[in-house]
Amino acid sequence: MILVTTAGKVGTQTALTLARSGHDVRVLVRDPQRHEILKDAGAELVEGDLADTVSVAAAVDGVDTVVLVSLAIPDQELRVIECAAATSVGFIVKATSKASADSPIARRRGQSEIEAGLIASGIPHALLRSNAYMQNFLALAPAIATGHLASSAGAGRVGFIDARDVGDVAAAIATAPESHLAKTYWLTGPELLTYGDVAAIFADALDHPVTFATRTRAEDEAAMIEAGVPPTIATQNAQAFSLIADGDAEWLSSDAANLLGRPALSFRAFAADYRPAFAVAH
Ligand SMILES: NC(=O)c1ccc[n+]([C@@H]2O[C@H](COP(=O)([O-])OP(=O)(O)OC[C@H]3O[C@@H](n4cnc5c(N)ncnc54)[C@H](OP(=O)(O)O)[C@@H]3O)[C@@H](O)[C@H]2O)c1
Repeated sequence: MILVTTAGKVGTQTALTLARSGHDVRVLVRDPQRHEILKDAGAELVEGDLADTVSVAAAVDGVDTVVLVSLAIPDQELRVIECAAATSVGFIVKATSKASADSPIARRRGQSEIEAGLIASGIPHALLRSNAYMQNFLALAPAIATGHLASSAGAGRVGFIDARDVGDVAAAIATAPESHLAKTYWLTGPELLTYGDVAAIFADALDHPVTFATRTRAEDEAAMIEAGVPPTIATQNAQAFSLIADGDAEWLSSDAANLLGRPALSFRAFAADYRPAFAVAH
């Protein structure tokens, strides 16, 4: 049995791929009714909360492999690791980022703390260190739908990866752990793109102009808060955009393509597949 925590952008894809290929997969979710697609695919949905030890222990019971794809909240993912260490779990696949204990971005410090806890647990594991997910742009869909993309990422280039590829990589590794012991994979898409390049790709996919405008980090943060993003997350996102402007995300790797046995999905493919989400004003 493979446990996936939880059904976010990556976890949903991981669970779908595992279930559709006939593997026993369990997904810990807060609200099973919102994840019927996983149940229909054959996954077992377990209602629980990563902040609650009882529900995490129940979810981990009888599991061989855990795919850790939840938020970079040390209290939550370390709870999963602790419960896993107390049972039969023999392998953990952990989704992470450019984790660093001295990063200015809180979630990268959180990832670093979780990685350290995973290593200290002694449970065999693999790390998926991804560049920015293409699906992050879904949060900007209302603006993109009306032809506007603005960011303090400036002219920084990013090796965006489709979260579906990250999910499929996690699924592939979870079903063949012995080939991936103590490995760290750096996951990116096939190309480096600026936000201006992304605007042009959306314009082609949506058949209307999409302009890119640079704004300041403070403007980015304020816009996200106004759009309903929690202030702590908005601060971290704005910090990440500033780092992107300085070249922090300008890296590519062939790890995803090698693990998938096919080219990683392009931004053009992402924009075409998600066209309906960007085509209407929300
Ligand atoms: N986004 C990026 O560009 C990026 C890049 C590199 C690495 N990563 C890392 O990749 C990992 C996966 O990210 P993602 O974007 O797939 O995540 P995501 O889409 O934001 O999903 C997070 C999920 O966590 C669930 N959740 C939140 N609190 C919970 C709790 N207390 N108990 C149970 N479930 C809870 C949410 O469920 P509800 O639906 O119930 O709210 C949501 O489905 C994270 O570690 C992230 O830091 C992200």
